[in-house]
Amino acid sequence: MRKKLIAANWKMNKTPDETRAFFREFLPLVAGHTRDEIVVCPPYTSAAAALEAAIGSSVAIGVQNVHWKADGAFTGEISAPMLLSLGVTHVIVGHSERRQYFGETDDTVNLRLKTALEAGLTAICCVGEVLEEREAGLTDDVLRRQCVRAFHAISAKKAAKMTVAYEPVWAIGTGKTATPELAAAAHAVIRREAAEVFGEEFAAGLRILYGGSVKPDNASTLMAQEEIDGALVGGASLDAKSLAGIVKY
Ligand code: 13P
Repeated sequence: MRKKLIAANWKMNKTPDETRAFFREFLPLVAGHTRDEIVVCPPYTSAAAALEAAIGSSVAIGVQNVHWKADGAFTGEISAPMLLSLGVTHVIVGHSERRQYFGETDDTVNLRLKTALEAGLTAICCVGEVLEEREAGLTDDVLRRQCVRAFHAISAKKAAKMTVAYEPVWAIGTGKTATPELAAAAHAVIRREAAEVFGEEFAAGLRILYGGSVKPDNASTLMAQEEIDGALVGGASLDAKSLAGIVKY
């Protein structure tokens, strides 16, 4: 059985003060909840506040990107050793917003993923098709390509700390959720690709999250799918009650 992971991607939201207020409300709501793992990924500037607020709870803290170099002249970037020294344990890589707006490519996703895993961080690697690709019947090809390129030159041993998130771009922030069946079919494609690259045993244990307009009222039907091993939640993770409602689907 794969333990489900509910991950909050706050994107560019919440100051340190807002982060502390969120945890004051959120932690009592999920106290004692052990069925699922929980990780919250604030912006870098609120990571320290989140780490401090989450001490003594079972909530892990991640961030939303990592550079592949340890240090150097890379203005605006953050490295894995910096994250480790802060106490961050998780990192999202390859989010579609990075791919769409910030020039992230399959190759840089691979570099970031490889670096995060080699540093011992748990990496949530995002893949997903845009609407035109789905409508053209290209979804499976796109997912296979994104996975093969992201997984390139990574060993199964290192990939043990990898989670994949399937986020159909047309479902992000749009209120349009993939049906549980459609998401499960995409997850199966990703799992097959992981089996090709890393082997059957690895693929059977790989957690694949669904992301795209997950809300408290649709979480239980999505999580009921055997193929869906958790959620990567954007908008609905910004409110403590709403994220707790998803955690307790
Ligand atoms: P929404 O939950 O706001 O659709 O965002 C999903 C997402 O992009 C999580 O990474």
